[in-house]
Amino acid sequence: MEDIGAVHQQYLTEERLELRRGFWQPGPEGDPATAALDSIVASGAREVLELGCGTGAFAARLQAAGPIHVTALDQSARMVELTKQRGVEARVGDATELRAPDDSYDAVAALWMLYHVRDRATALAEVRRVLRPGGIFVVITIGEDHLAELRVEAGGKPFRPRFSSENGEEQLREHFSEVVRSDFHTLAVFDDQAAALTYLDSGSDDVRWRLPEFDEPRQYAGHVTMFVARG
Ligand SMILES: C[S@@+](CC[C@H](N)C(=O)[O-])C[C@H]1O[C@@H](n2cnc3c(N)ncnc32)[C@H](O)[C@@H]1O
Repeated sequence: MEDIGAVHQQYLTEERLELRRGFWQPGPEGDPATAALDSIVASGAREVLELGCGTGAFAARLQAAGPIHVTALDQSARMVELTKQRGVEARVGDATELRAPDDSYDAVAALWMLYHVRDRATALAEVRRVLRPGGIFVVITIGEDHLAELRVEAGGKPFRPRFSSENGEEQLREHFSEVVRSDFHTLAVFDDQAAALTYLDSGSDDVRWRLPEFDEPRQYAGHVTMFVARG
């Protein structure tokens, strides 16, 4: 299982995150991050906290989408620096310790990050605490079948995320009375075997990935879920 040191190492710089992002295309339900953004804008939120902001792309889009002020948080100093460069208020911190007064935010977002947080019960209680009454918590995560075909073909196992499409709703319901889910079928496209191996090697898995040669583009299915929790 991924430990805190591996998460720290994985996100010391943006390269691996950017590399993986470049292979993904939205499926028939559209882009999950855009759906998350639309949910927050539609809720009328003005003060938003983003946990695990990465390079700050989502925070910057959100801030440009309306009269919205975003505070972004990440455990990586480099990610915080990149987010600040986009004109977003950002600080280094951990999702389990939000250091904000009760009822501070109209919305909290956590995109592709809760599966990295070991003590999710504390993080979710913190989110609930800093959300104003009527506020929403928007989460994006992956399913156990996400890229499973490629991972198995390359000598590994499917993902078993701590917070996934399969187990996320149950964890959210410990802290929120209403949880609505939306599922997205996404696509990873690799031009050749080398590209697919580069993608797999960019993760934190302790696996020696190997794949048969191919030089025609191949597509592999991803599965992403958005949860919107409130109450
Ligand atoms: C997969 S990246 C996703 C980044 C961004 N949300 C996106 O959608 O591109 C996960 C991010 O969460 C951050 N992270 C992981 N664990 C964290 C924690 N406990 N507290 C705050 N940030 C964390 C990592 O540093 C990384 O930037």
